[in-house]
Amino acid sequence: MKDFYRRSPHLVCYWWRNKLVLENYASRSRVSAAPLTCEILHFFDRWRTVQELLKRYSHFSPASLRCAVRALVRLSLLERSRAPRDAHADAFALWKEWSPAASFLHFSTKDAHAPIEPEDSLRELRQRARIEPMPPPAKSYPRARKFHLPPPQRSGEFPSVLLARRTWRQFSGGSLSLEKLATLLGLSFGVQSWLHVRGIGSVALKTSPSGGARHPIEAYVLALRVNGLPSGLYHYAAATHVLELLRRGASSAQVVRYLNGQWWFGRVAVVVLMTAVFARTRWKYPRRAPIASS
Ligand SMILES: Cc1cc2nc3c(=O)[nH]c(=O)nc-3n(C[C@H](O)[C@H](O)[C@H](O)COP(=O)(O)O)c2cc1C
Repeated sequence: MKDFYRRSPHLVCYWWRNKLVLENYASRSRVSAAPLTCEILHFFDRWRTVQELLKRYSHFSPASLRCAVRALVRLSLLERSRAPRDAHADAFALWKEWSPAASFLHFSTKDAHAPIEPEDSLRELRQRARIEPMPPPAKSYPRARKFHLPPPQRSGEFPSVLLARRTWRQFSGGSLSLEKLATLLGLSFGVQSWLHVRGIGSVALKTSPSGGARHPIEAYVLALRVNGLPSGLYHYAAATHVLELLRRGASSAQVVRYLNGQWWFGRVAVVVLMTAVFARTRWKYPRRAPIASS
């Protein structure tokens, strides 16, 4: 059976300093190349054989062209018809209308950097501050006319909650009650009511606002110690306020792995993980980048 080749749909090219760079943002492959490479990639804008390439570029030696095709396949700049189907192809298909600008930004920057110990991070930042001082954390227009405001109201239940809020990184290792988890999930992610839009369908309304009422965020619960709930990975069904068990069992090691090595979260009772169903946002905003996805 013949092999056919086609340019990967996830390519961008740009100049970096004096080099032409070809990058596949899906496979994270990045190479500098001669401009002729672009011509070869352009030739493969539909499934074609190496024989067709040899015919088109008969002034080059067949061996050098074959070698170039092999290299382009290895670097994932060219796809091969007989290669196993990319498991992520469907996910990338969702990004079609946002490509290449948003896809390039998202896929080439989405993964966190290697985990770093807080002490190392502080040392690094102190070194940086000596060379490049930290930008001021608040802004002011000294010459502008000033209108002094009355102090904010600090009493009452809601102000108390806001004023007491802090990021917490120490955990007792104890359990969480199912009632508390249910309240947290219900009030943060649960659908409170439905808006019926004629000719379109039902739109969810929650306690949080969402661009275009798309509410793309889905919550997953990794339960380690919740009274009355077997440990495991659950999906929170926002419409029905139900936890759907996806996988039994959960461990501290799993938490630390999910959080990119942040060991200080190892003793938590529960982790709520958020993902986004981009299709919801894209359906309404095919031209707007996924920055609107919240
Ligand atoms: C989008 C976002 C991501 C964060 N990621 C982490 C994180 O990965 N690990 C962590 O320990 N804290 C994380 N934090 C917490 C911040 O470090 C914390 O908000 C900041 O230090 C200020 O402290 P405060 O929340 O007590 O006011 C994150 C906060 C936000 C808003």
